[in-house]
Amino acid sequence: MNTDGMLKDGALKGQTIIVTGGGTGLGRSMGKYFLELGANLVITSRRMEVLEKAAKELEEETGGKVLPVQCDVRNYEQVENVLAQTEEKFGQIHGLLNNAAGNFISPTERLSHRAFDVVIDIVLKGTTNCTLALGKKWIASGQPGTVLNITTTYAWTGSGYVVPSACAKAGVLAMTRSLAVEWAKYKIRLNAIAPGPFPTEGAWSRLLPGDLVKKFDPAKQVPVGRVGEHQELANLAAYLMSDYSAYVNGEVMTIDGGEWLQGAGEFSHLEKIPQEMWDMLEASRSKKA
Ligand code: HXC
Ligand code: NAP
Repeated sequence: MNTDGMLKDGALKGQTIIVTGGGTGLGRSMGKYFLELGANLVITSRRMEVLEKAAKELEEETGGKVLPVQCDVRNYEQVENVLAQTEEKFGQIHGLLNNAAGNFISPTERLSHRAFDVVIDIVLKGTTNCTLALGKKWIASGQPGTVLNITTTYAWTGSGYVVPSACAKAGVLAMTRSLAVEWAKYKIRLNAIAPGPFPTEGAWSRLLPGDLVKKFDPAKQVPVGRVGEHQELANLAAYLMSDYSAYVNGEVMTIDGGEWLQGAGEFSHLEKIPQEMWDMLEASRSKKA
């Protein structure tokens, strides 16, 4: 495993990138790497105190410029305000990383309709709000742009116990592929990343609450035997945000150590068969032959 930054110095120099949910977790890690590559960064979320602290730390760590703007992505006017403040401080906007999300585990029949709505609204409506508002602006001004959406591997398989998230992330995937084609003529490119497990406080506290983390070690579900390192995701995100990926459009890149395919493979469970049993099976086959 190599967790060094992968792109050339200055790969995002002069670019201005907005990261929703950029004050914590994976959004913060990806934003930090964008800064290291020379970008100006705008981070948004609901909690201004979290954003301000993150902005200060990120500026100190990287020497880059960070603008924190409070914004609930469910609110279109607040999204438009982020764009206005970004243009006022940095001028042209080059990239949008739709990373903000809400999620929790529950048997679906236990959810209230409001619980279902809250996840759909943050993940799907939040992503469409940001993409639509910025897309309109880019198209009206004739500027090119890059959108990167964070989805999940269960966007295409579905998954029990996180059904609102699965529905919303599937919608994000459909939007990514649809607009990648429709808006290519405006030089707007859209791609997505589907991460497997990457430890963050936000995800772990909601998806593996209490003792669950001891009972269900996520690393054990991954064929390569570990969870992801944030820099591995940041490298992929920076590549997809940069002009190096100019010919990649409408793609969703999985970064999960083979996790979802292991779940899908008909005979993946045979991994549990010990070597001695394979020896016995082979011996009985040789006897018959
Ligand atoms: C069931 C729940 C619930 C839970 C909230 N609700 N938490 N229902 N189980 N754990 C219900 C509430 O009872 C309420 O319904 C409704 O949802 C709205 O709840 P609020 O607390 O008022 O919502 P809000 O304050 O807006 O908070 C949103 C949130 C919260 C989604 C509930 O968890 C949040 O802020 N999350 C943001 C960060 C996050 O989730 N990060 C993890 C992303 S990880 P009623 O009917 O009572 O009014 C991820 C990883 C995917 O996506 C893949 C991993 C491999
Ligand atoms: P996280 O730290 O909880 O990130 C979620 C962010 O979204 C927070 O900064 C949160 O900030 C923000 N947010 C939530 N609701 C919002 C709203 N209504 N408006 C604006 N911002 C909002 O969790 P994470 O693990 O880094 O997740 C980041 C992304 O990766 C998500 O899209 C998630 O689905 C995806 N993902 C994560 C994993 C993993 O293993 N960690 C795996 C697959 C996919 P506020 O609370 O301040 O608003």
